[in-house]
Amino acid sequence: MLLDLKYLLSHLPPNVDKRDAFLLIQYTLKINYEKLFFIKEIEITVQEFDKLMECIQLRSEHMPIAKIIGHKSFYNNEFKTTTDTLDPRPETELIIDLFLKYFPNRAVPLSILDLGCGTGCIGLSILDFYKNSTLCLADISDKALSVAKYNAKNLNLENRCSFTKTSWFNDVKGKFNAIVCNPPYVEDNYDLDRDTLYDPPIALFGGKDGLDAYKKILPYTKQFLCDKGFLFLEIGLGQSEAVCRIAEDLDTIEIAKDLQGINRIIVFSINSI
Ligand SMILES: C[S@@+](CC[C@H](N)C(=O)[O-])C[C@H]1O[C@@H](n2cnc3c(N)ncnc32)[C@H](O)[C@@H]1O
Repeated sequence: MLLDLKYLLSHLPPNVDKRDAFLLIQYTLKINYEKLFFIKEIEITVQEFDKLMECIQLRSEHMPIAKIIGHKSFYNNEFKTTTDTLDPRPETELIIDLFLKYFPNRAVPLSILDLGCGTGCIGLSILDFYKNSTLCLADISDKALSVAKYNAKNLNLENRCSFTKTSWFNDVKGKFNAIVCNPPYVEDNYDLDRDTLYDPPIALFGGKDGLDAYKKILPYTKQFLCDKGFLFLEIGLGQSEAVCRIAEDLDTIEIAKDLQGINRIIVFSINSI
């Protein structure tokens, strides 16, 4: 059968925009995204049509595109994501920029910990730059760890990775030159938009004030960092002062703003530089 693109695009349900539809057509029909701008009709099987309609329906129910197609791009790579992992967010990419700034020598062998790794997007993106370094990916969720393992293998990085199931530092062994962490920091009663609710609650909510994870991580960070080590920590809107107060035995080196001007990443060290 022939799919009339103009007709489809003018009859999309609410909450599905043209870009979403193009991404879903690209996913179901394996057609190059740019090509879609130049064609009016597409040859499509009944099964492909049904699949496309199912995806459009899911999007109209606010399911994020990444959850429908099962992957999301982050920094230089594509990461598998599922209902058990937080979809990588653009603001988290700032951790990679800061890491590259604080560790300019990419040949040096670093040992890195990604605490609450989810898809592994932070640690694996960094490991991809530091070819002599190793990465420990840690999470409390077995299912998130399986996704992180898949992503490590897919990026040919698994030989330099280890995986630890742990509640924060409880079962983490050793010391690290750098720790990267984007913990759950949303206040429990915060009214999230419907798209975000497709992420697992364990990846989102940080207790009544959103600070529970910081209270469990920051008092113990010092003992897991090597001399001159750094912690790169993501925070939520308006949390920088409270988080710095919790991190009283660490030195605050930098508070970096995201593209919206919100304090987003704090760089801590155990030795001032
Ligand atoms: C906000 S998500 C971040 C995921 C990923 N690092 C990223 O930036 O996209 C928080 C992650 O912390 C994990 N997590 C929640 N509670 C934890 C705990 N007590 N110990 C270890 N990991 C935990 C969740 O499973 C989730 O993968």
